[in-house]
Amino acid sequence: MQVATFLAYLLSAALFIFGIRRLKTPETARSGNTLAALGMLIAVVATLFVIEFRGLLEIGLAMIVGSVIGAVSAQRVQMTSMPQMVAAYNGVGGGAAALIALSEFYHLSEVGELGVVGGVTVPLTVLIGSVSFAGSVVAFSKLQEIAFEGAVSFPLQQVVNALLFVGILVLAANAFVDGALLPFLSPVASVVAVMAASLLLGILLVIPIGGADMPIVISLLNAGTGLAAAASGFVLDNYILIIAGTIVGASGTILTRLMSGALGRPLGKIIFAGIAAAAGGSREEGEERPVHDASAEEVGEYLKEEAEKVIIVPGYGLAVAQAQGPMHELMEALEAAGKEVKFGIHPVAGRMPGHMNVLLTEVGIPYAKLYDLEDINPEFGDADAVIIVGANDVVNPVANDPDQSTPISGMPILEVEQAKKVIFVKRSLSPGFAGVDNPLFYDEEKTMMLFSDAKQGLQEMVSAVKST
Ligand code: TAP
Repeated sequence: MQVATFLAYLLSAALFIFGIRRLKTPETARSGNTLAALGMLIAVVATLFVIEFRGLLEIGLAMIVGSVIGAVSAQRVQMTSMPQMVAAYNGVGGGAAALIALSEFYHLSEVGELGVVGGVTVPLTVLIGSVSFAGSVVAFSKLQEIAFEGAVSFPLQQVVNALLFVGILVLAANAFVDGALLPFLSPVASVVAVMAASLLLGILLVIPIGGADMPIVISLLNAGTGLAAAASGFVLDNYILIIAGTIVGASGTILTRLMSGALGRPLGKIIFAGIAAAAGGSREEGEERPVHDASAEEVGEYLKEEAEKVIIVPGYGLAVAQAQGPMHELMEALEAAGKEVKFGIHPVAGRMPGHMNVLLTEVGIPYAKLYDLEDINPEFGDADAVIIVGANDVVNPVANDPDQSTPISGMPILEVEQAKKVIFVKRSLSPGFAGVDNPLFYDEEKTMMLFSDAKQGLQEMVSAVKST
């Protein structure tokens, strides 16, 4: 490899790492993203030199098409649909790695240069890449509510998965020993069969997992795609692919662990046990239970007269309603009235990691006022009011009830019920993502329900707090 290419790859790798480092806070995240994208551009250009600009027309066309699709979809996607987009991009990455490995296997076996490294890494790349692709397609379909909704399972599913995995190993071994194990199947046909079986395995692994666990699954598949890319780097003898793939694999693994911790769901349970499709804690059809239906004026009055310390909890509905601006105004109005205001941010509030932090800091709410779950939970006990805007699962005490088995059971929640007053701003008594009803809605003593779109409800609360 040319020294210049090596140095360019080194610079790319450094930019990836600095970029990820800057994703640590919303203030620096944009520049981190730009740095990492610059690193990728440098890597692509350096690779063009490595391949001596062969196939430039095809590569150029593919880059233009890919860039247009990426730019347009990134511009258009709603923040709330970001997990689907990550799943789609991730799937494409895994699929690409698998296809590249397959074509390289064909090429290397034609010229007789497969060797031990190629013989091992190609089937591995095809396996991981194909599982990642098919799993991501299923995850996308679940989140977009196109297909496979809920937890889809059938008898002996684990046994079928295990048999499929053993079959993949046999096929991979056959490719490695040049077809000596299964003489009727050529090495290339074996790798194609590894791909087909791995696609099926990817589908079967993800269909039994319920929507509530999908963020973790996507992150896990993301880690898988990184590993597939790293493995294809060995096949192609390309350093930057190995480095970038390993970074993605490592960061995807860390994120998976963090999210499974935040949701209180061990990874093994998600993958091997699926999750109960039926949501517990739900209301009987047609059952009417009384609630304290409050107006914005009543809420404003309480906040002005009786609350000194207020904690605000944002959720998915805030993002849908794009109500972060009025939430900022409410913070300012309360502070102008001499109240202490903090924000409690659950790690999986909204629909993507960091969703709420991004929205709130974007409108100028100081990062220092945003508290993580562990830091804010001890504070609810001495809060006079908690205002929950468009959230349900992340504050639902059912998650802590050992007698109920629900998709959120075991997930650490924001313990809002410990505050003196709980104020929900949402449009109805509908539950959230996990479909679990919230008993707090019906605590007429403690809870005020302000039924409204988040944006309108917050605007009315601001006026009520400001009015003398
Ligand atoms: P959810 O439990 O999904 O509750 C959202 C609430 O917002 C709903 O109860 C809905 O009630 C309300 N809402 C919707 N549109 C609204 C609007 N325009 N104005 C006011 N309210 C509105 O949200 P959460 O508490 O943030 O929990 C997040 C859930 O998503 C968790 O289960 C989590 O596991 C899952 N999830 C998270 C992620 C990540 S990584 N963050 C990714 C995928 C899934 P109404 O219809 O009555 O208004």
